[in-house]
Amino acid sequence: MSDEQLVLMATDGHVATLTLNRPRALNAISPELIDALIVVLERCEADDQIRAVVLTGSARAFAAGADIKAMAAASPMQMLTSRSIERWARIAAFRKPLIAAVSGYALGGGCELAMMCDMIVASETAQFGQPEINLGVIPGAGGTQRLTRAIGPYRAMELVLTGATISAQEALQYGLVNRVAPVEGFLAEAQRLAAQVAEKAPLAAQLAKEAVRAAAETTLREGLAIELRNFYLLFDTEDQKEGMRAFIEKRPPTFSGR
Ligand code: CAA
Repeated sequence: MSDEQLVLMATDGHVATLTLNRPRALNAISPELIDALIVVLERCEADDQIRAVVLTGSARAFAAGADIKAMAAASPMQMLTSRSIERWARIAAFRKPLIAAVSGYALGGGCELAMMCDMIVASETAQFGQPEINLGVIPGAGGTQRLTRAIGPYRAMELVLTGATISAQEALQYGLVNRVAPVEGFLAEAQRLAAQVAEKAPLAAQLAKEAVRAAAETTLREGLAIELRNFYLLFDTEDQKEGMRAFIEKRPPTFSGR
């Protein structure tokens, strides 16, 4: 199966929708699937027409985890030298706004993949969890860190130690997802949210993403420095001039992405 078939890509205006496409394995994340996703994300990053991206799976599974069959017999050295999990970091480093549209299983690496996105829209059937403990391992693609930051240490500890899953409604209540929609409408809801973001000045959106991310990844002092640098940098863009001029002239802005 070629890279492009493992991840389908469609665009509508300034929004790209990427669909994980290994339905028979419930989108289990093999090295090939991650590589295919990275290829398509890099294409989105390079394309100025694309301003926001939705990442989704099927109604039954966003992704049921890293591919257990691909890992089961691996040695630590094979895991290390293949950089099997490190390469996922490219997804977390994607510069444009990335929205996960999650239905069905988002387990293990699937939950971790969703948490590498900037917002999560869930269908009513979504289930989130880190069941790695049931396999004799622990989350390896950020679950112990991102889940803890998202829902707090006590809830995260319970999920990581018991392998239990939470429903979309619980995830909403815990602050792990932005909104919950019926399964027939969750993808459209995520695409609407992406379109709303895509109307904004693209460089401001990218630098805003970087600054908000810094809140979870750095100290307050460093985060504030990143925020201020990005705020100042945006005064070098045509969109800042246009945005402020449009406000003064009492008209909607037209952003060019420059
Ligand atoms: N890896 C590989 N294959 C997987 C998979 C995974 N994570 N999850 C599902 N599949 C495969 C199954 O093996 C099965 O394939 P076959 O038809 O060839 O047997 C197919 O997908 C359908 O799955 P089930 O028959 O099991 O479907 P179900 O509806 O009975 O159960 C499920 C669904 C509860 C999600 C169950 O598949 C399951 O528990 N999957 C594993 C979940 C898990 O443990 N994820 C964590 C993986 S480790 C990880 O992610 C590490 C990390 O942090 C990076």
